[in-house]
Amino acid sequence: LPFMAAALLCGYLIGSIPFGLILTRMAGLGDVRKIGSGNIGATNVLRTGNKKLAALTLLLDALKGTAAVLIAGRFGEQYGLIAGLGAFLGHIAPVWLGFRGGKGVATYLGILLAAAWQGALVFALAWLATAFITRFSSLSALVAAVCVPLALLALGLKLPALLFAALSIMIFIKHRANISRLLAGTETRIGAKG
Ligand code: G3P
Repeated sequence: LPFMAAALLCGYLIGSIPFGLILTRMAGLGDVRKIGSGNIGATNVLRTGNKKLAALTLLLDALKGTAAVLIAGRFGEQYGLIAGLGAFLGHIAPVWLGFRGGKGVATYLGILLAAAWQGALVFALAWLATAFITRFSSLSALVAAVCVPLALLALGLKLPALLFAALSIMIFIKHRANISRLLAGTETRIGAKG
């Protein structure tokens, strides 16, 4: 149990690094929380107009999840999954930002890549297909978040399926405002400035 707690905490600390906020500040773009959706994720960094910075935010936020799973996973699969959970929680609720973090999508994908790569493939296909058709980043994430646990379950990966079902529920909770905007027809499309 102390090892489980250590894995959770290490994952949390890695996950709580707010790359979107750090990168936009370093680039002199001000506080990303004051533009667009107010989120610190790659989609909102893109609303600053800086594509490279948005891509870097996506990459680094995903890598937090991948690194947490790979490092703790050396001590056993369950430790990797717990550290992945920690990284996700760290991203969506970092202590440094008064627990107001991101929506977890990039980190979810990074965790998935290390924990069950087949799921990452399903995520990518679902996200890209939805984004191609609708141009909504939020809707694409929500569709992918539904597909991933179902696919993992179908593949017989029960423990990962359970973890990602829980993470998907948290993704939905963090996207409440997006869901309202999607229903109201006021959600911003990818690339459009918020
Ligand atoms: O990954 C977050 C995305 O799904 C929504 O971001 O900034 O449009 O709320 P945003």
